[in-house]
Amino acid sequence: MALLEVQQLRAGYGPIEVLKGISLQVDKGEIVAIIGANGAGKTTTLMTLSGIVPVRGGSILFDGQDITRLPAYQIVSRGLAQSPEGRKIFPRLTVLENLEMGAFTRNDPQGVQADIEKAYHYFPILKQRAKQAGGTLSGGEQQMLAIARALMSRPKLLLLDEPSLGLAPMIVLKIFEVIRELNRDGVAVLLVEQNARMALKLAHRGYVLETGSITMSDRAETMLNDPRVKAAYLGE
Ligand SMILES: Nc1ncnc2c1ncn2[C@@H]1O[C@H](COP(=O)(O)OP(=O)(O)O)[C@@H](O)[C@H]1O
Ligand SMILES: [Mg+2]
Repeated sequence: MALLEVQQLRAGYGPIEVLKGISLQVDKGEIVAIIGANGAGKTTTLMTLSGIVPVRGGSILFDGQDITRLPAYQIVSRGLAQSPEGRKIFPRLTVLENLEMGAFTRNDPQGVQADIEKAYHYFPILKQRAKQAGGTLSGGEQQMLAIARALMSRPKLLLLDEPSLGLAPMIVLKIFEVIRELNRDGVAVLLVEQNARMALKLAHRGYVLETGSITMSDRAETMLNDPRVKAAYLGE
């Protein structure tokens, strides 16, 4: 069953049209990857779904409801949260305060407390660093914090923008393991990655985005073996 259903979505910046009418779907329980070259429009896609970049055309259905022109905070409170490219944690706030910021749409302090513990369960290092300023964390820890902060709104769908960017392979493996665990616990994931191989190994299905258009969509396993994907995105 479709959790997210995007139809003919268009968005851009000023005179530049970036998304030229893209359609995609994420089902309940799925991990879906969007792969594509630098500048293809991956970040713009996630920012538009989150209500940060304005929609110029098309529609976004989430959990059966039209969220196409809702303000960002209402989209978050309906269960769609993003971990942005480049982490964008609050460097002067502590790890714990960063997590609390992720719960800004909620008014159930006990539930929030329980979810902080849950975040620490997924990323134990964050508990050790709870009182440290976010800016003092390593890149990998900041990525973990960005994901954990997004989880604080109890999302049904988690949008992840380049979670592997700039991180050592060991750390990337660890983060991808947690993404898989989150998914097993019921969170659907829409993952944007330049690391196409890792993304397609993790995902159930994938899309290729090329200069603002979806040019391919298939089961991730099929895409991993597709000669065009191999040549263009897997360096084979
Ligand atoms: N804030 C912005 N203002 C103007 N152009 C932008 C902005 N953000 C991105 N772009 C342009 O939109 C296109 C898609 O960018 P982006 O969505 O960041 O791609 P990707 O995440 O796939 O690398 C690029 O040509 C980029 O230069
Ligand atoms: Mg990007």
